[in-house]
Amino acid sequence: MEHIKFEVDNYIASITLTRPDKLNAMTPEMAEALVANIKEFDRRQDVRVLVLTGMGEKAFCAGSDIAELDTYASPWEFRNRPDYCDAIRGARKPIICAINGYALGGGLEMAMSCDIRIAADHARVGSPEVKLGWIGGGGMAFTLAHNAGASNAAMMLMGGDHVSAQQALQWGLVSELHPAAGLVPRAKEIAATIAARPPVAVETAKANLRAAYTMPFEMAVQYERDLQTVCFATEDAAEGRAAFKERRPATFKGR
Ligand code: COA
Repeated sequence: MEHIKFEVDNYIASITLTRPDKLNAMTPEMAEALVANIKEFDRRQDVRVLVLTGMGEKAFCAGSDIAELDTYASPWEFRNRPDYCDAIRGARKPIICAINGYALGGGLEMAMSCDIRIAADHARVGSPEVKLGWIGGGGMAFTLAHNAGASNAAMMLMGGDHVSAQQALQWGLVSELHPAAGLVPRAKEIAATIAARPPVAVETAKANLRAAYTMPFEMAVQYERDLQTVCFATEDAAEGRAAFKERRPATFKGR
């Protein structure tokens, strides 16, 4: 697809939004392609982790392409458009977002739907929809409330102003800041660490963490114990224990 690049190298997939002249604003065609690429990433046996970023230094994604929002035939069609945030959250495998510039509206929701976020020093994030007369619809309030806290989320959602990368770090919206040139290399370094881990353990760790956001405590502990048992029964876990006892590096196969 013209505005989305999908690459795979040594167990690490990269998806890059390549529409920098429009600040990587998301058209309906891009959204459809992004959903398809995320499903492919999740399905492929030769990929363990994804780095999601945008081309250029100005923007990761400035949200939905505002000009295209009037092209839906009805509000119901708009409501049921392909949702890349659902696709990202629904992926079994980990996704790292490298926020290389503006992450606004759907761009911020996309980042917040990923498992790990790091940002460039100059990045700015925000939920500016309120300035235009609507609100986010891809998990904006939930993810901001859980990551930035209620008062900071309220400022972002009701005022709509952008927040600096430094503020985003302080509020817990991102894990690390880096100079622009070092951002994607650092994201790939994190990806390589995760790709070296036993894949079933990584995927169950992700499922477990996602459940922890929404499940009642006692249910979450039982679920965690079941997932732990699934991991414990894998060939990779047996290999991990054997390698530790034999003082050698383990070789993991994803089984
Ligand atoms: N949808 C469509 N086009 C967009 C866009 C969006 N969300 N965001 C930026 N663009 C386009 C601009 O129209 C412009 O195109 P042009 O050169 O053909 O005129 C180009 O990207 C560059 O943006 P520009 O506004 O000129 O850059 P800037 O540095 O002056 O401002 C922003 C940057 C991010 C502050 C500004 O583009 C902006 O506010 N964008 C909208 C963000 C938004 O409301 N997102 C939520 C949408 S739901």
